[in-house]
Amino acid sequence: MILKGKKGLIFGALNDQSIAWQVAEQCIAEGAEIVLTNAPVAFRLGTVKTLSTQLNSPLIAADATKVEDLEQLVTQTMAHFGGKFDFVLHSIGMSLNIRKNKPYTDLDYGYMQQSFDISAISFHKLMKVLYEKDAVNEWGSILALSYIGAQRAFPHYHEMSEAKALLESFARSFGYHFGKDKKIRVNTISQSPTATTAGTGITGFDKFLEHSAKMSPLGNAPALDCAKYCISLFSDYTRYVTMQNLFHDGGFSTTGMSLEFME
Ligand SMILES: NC(=O)c1ccc[n+]([C@@H]2O[C@H](COP(=O)([O-])OP(=O)(O)OC[C@H]3O[C@@H](n4cnc5c(N)ncnc54)[C@H](O)[C@@H]3O)[C@@H](O)[C@H]2O)c1
Repeated sequence: MILKGKKGLIFGALNDQSIAWQVAEQCIAEGAEIVLTNAPVAFRLGTVKTLSTQLNSPLIAADATKVEDLEQLVTQTMAHFGGKFDFVLHSIGMSLNIRKNKPYTDLDYGYMQQSFDISAISFHKLMKVLYEKDAVNEWGSILALSYIGAQRAFPHYHEMSEAKALLESFARSFGYHFGKDKKIRVNTISQSPTATTAGTGITGFDKFLEHSAKMSPLGNAPALDCAKYCISLFSDYTRYVTMQNLFHDGGFSTTGMSLEFME
């Protein structure tokens, strides 16, 4: 029970395929108390209410692009816990251009702005609110989920590549201030492609999965293992890890050629 006595706030559990769903379950299994949150629309589209009941954890609606929603969420979370908490997971991503099937060479810039706001700027907004409200305990951990599209070109990943690059940069830059001023760490985990609602929305996602499974000596990392890695980063075993983008990808990011492609 490596999270015994710890309290955390988990964004992004939509349904039982969501990475955040697995993280929430693992948090409880490891002895933590959690508050769940998602955008109001996700309450209708997904099954997060079921998770809240199953885990006996409160569920609070917040659109992560709205600072006022985040302020209310953090205030209510602190009221529930009777003070500060220890860890936060930002597990939010969406591209309007992918949804609308726009080609990368002709993106809609309004959609692009929204994609950046939902997938990356929301992380800065969240950290600003956590910082100003002094909501996280010393040696606490703030974490977001990323993808290697931040560093490499993937044709159908669209402006999510730039959104993830921005997200990882916010983790570094805000991580400096959180470390210096509050002794809190901020990191991103760069996860293998995973069959979730966000993942399968990408054109040719099956090929993503297949290709990266072949390129990764350990194969694609499943959502449950990603959740376990998140738990290690919430725990006291990783107190000095901060401002990092940590690959959880079965070795994909450092493999140049795979035997599967040579046979
Ligand atoms: N699935 C993959 O292949 C993969 C790989 C690497 C990283 N990731 C990242 O993991 C994270 C979680 O995605 P997932 O794969 O579990 O998919 P998912 O679709 O289950 O989760 C995405 C979540 O974002 C939430 N969201 C969207 N707009 C929001 C808003 N305005 N406010 C609050 N929440 C909002 C959705 O309701 C949903 O719960 C994302 O950051 C995603 O980019 C996914």
